[in-house]
Amino acid sequence: MNEPSVTVATGGTTETLKKFRPGLEGVVAAETALSHVDGTRGVLLIGGYPVEEIAPQAAFEEVVHLLWQGTRATEREVASLRQALAAQRALPAATVALLERVAAARKSPMDALRIAAGTLDLDAPDKEWDGLALRLVARMPTVVATYWRLLHGLTPVEPDAGLGDTANYLYMLTGEMPEDAKVRGLETYLNTVSDHGLNASTFAARVIIATQSDLVSAIVGAIGALKGPLHGGAPGPALDMVFEIGRPEAAEAYLRAKLERGERLMGFGHRVYKVRDPRAEVLAAAAAEMFAADVAGQELYGLAKSVEATAIRLLEEYKPGRRLQTNVEFFTALLLHGLGLESALFTPTFAVGRTVGWIAHCREQMATNRLIRPEARYVGPVYTTW
Ligand SMILES: CC(C)(COP(=O)(O)OP(=O)(O)OC[C@H]1O[C@@H](n2cnc3c(N)ncnc32)[C@H](O)[C@@H]1OP(=O)(O)O)[C@@H](O)C(=O)NCCC(=O)NCCS
Repeated sequence: MNEPSVTVATGGTTETLKKFRPGLEGVVAAETALSHVDGTRGVLLIGGYPVEEIAPQAAFEEVVHLLWQGTRATEREVASLRQALAAQRALPAATVALLERVAAARKSPMDALRIAAGTLDLDAPDKEWDGLALRLVARMPTVVATYWRLLHGLTPVEPDAGLGDTANYLYMLTGEMPEDAKVRGLETYLNTVSDHGLNASTFAARVIIATQSDLVSAIVGAIGALKGPLHGGAPGPALDMVFEIGRPEAAEAYLRAKLERGERLMGFGHRVYKVRDPRAEVLAAAAAEMFAADVAGQELYGLAKSVEATAIRLLEEYKPGRRLQTNVEFFTALLLHGLGLESALFTPTFAVGRTVGWIAHCREQMATNRLIRPEARYVGPVYTTW
C-alpha cells in the first residue's frame, strides 16, 4: 500500500504531507522469515509450516528450535534443548521474594509476570544473548505457576527436570503429574501462539530491541502490549461471555443486547484476518479432542460453537462488510478452560508461548537493525511568541 506522498506549499515553505495510517494499518514495517500471516486466505505459516500441521504434532521445544535456528531439529537437538531449558527453570531467589510481595498486594497474574520478568536476568552474565534467551523461555512458566500458587496460599512447586517444558508447566501449576492428553492440548496451544507476524507485542519488542536496548527490556515491553484486551487479554472475557449466555437459545438476545450497546464481542474480529483465523480451527479441534471423553466439556463445546455461529451472524448484521470472524482467543478460552486453567491464567499462558516468538523477532531485528522511528504529523497550534 505505498501511496505517493503529496508536496504542498504552506506559508512560503514547501512541506511533504505523508499519508497518515492510524494503527499503521497496511504498513509493512519489517521483513521476517519467522511466520507468515495471510489474512485473506486464512493461512498461517510458522517457520514455513502450516499451523494446522505443526501445532498439533510438534513438541514445544521443536518449535523453539525452528524459530530460533530456522531448521527442523534432530532428535538429538530436541533432547539437548529440552535439557538446557530444564536446567534454567528455577527462579533467582530475589524473583521469588518479589513474587511473594506482589501476591500480598493481590496483583493480577499478568501484572506479576510483567513485574517479575524484569528480574529474570539477575543471575545472567551481561549481554550473553543465548543464555538469556533460554532463561526467559524456561522461566516464564515458572513465574506464572509460582505466582499462581502464592496468590492462592499454596507452596510453589519446584520444577521437575525430568519433564518437558509443557508438562512441567502444568505440573508446577497443579502439583500433579498431568495426563498426556492435557500436555498435548497445551502443547498445541503454545505452538499455535508461538509467533504471529508483526502483532502489537512483537512490534513493541522489535521497537525496544532496535534501540540497542536489552532482551529483558524488550520482553517486559511486549508483556505490557500483550496484556490489553484488544490483543492478548480477550480470552477471559470471551469465556465469561459463553458462561453468561449459558444455553444456546439465550445467545441471540444476549449478543444482540451487547451489540446494541456498542460493545465488542471478545474473540471476534482481527486486524489482518478477514476470514476465520486458522488458529481458531486448530484450537477448536484440540478442544474437541480433549472434551471427547467428558460429557460436561462436550456440552460446553456445543454451547461455544452455537455462540460462535450466532455471533458471526449478528456481527455481519450489525457491522456489514467488516468481515468479523472468530479469532484465536475464542477457542483459546475453551481449550485452556478444558485444561483446568482459570481465566486469569489465559493471558499469562499466551505470554509463555509467545516469548519464543518475541525472542526470535528480536534476534531477527538485530541481524539487520535499523532504529524504528516513524513520524507524527503535527496538528497542534503554531504560535509565534511565548
Ligand atoms: C482485534 C480488533 C482490535 C481488530 O480491530 P481493528 O482492525 O482495529 O478494527 P476496528 O477497531 O477498526 O473495527 C472495525 C469495525 O468493526 C467493529 N468491530 C471490530 N471487532 C469487533 C468485535 N469483536 N465486536 C463488535 N464489533 C467489532 C468496530 O466496532 C468497528 O466498527 P465501526 O467501523 O462501525 O466503528 C477488534 O476486532 C476487536 O476489538 N476484537 C475484540 C477483541 C479481541 O477479540 N481481541 C483479540 C484479537 S486476536
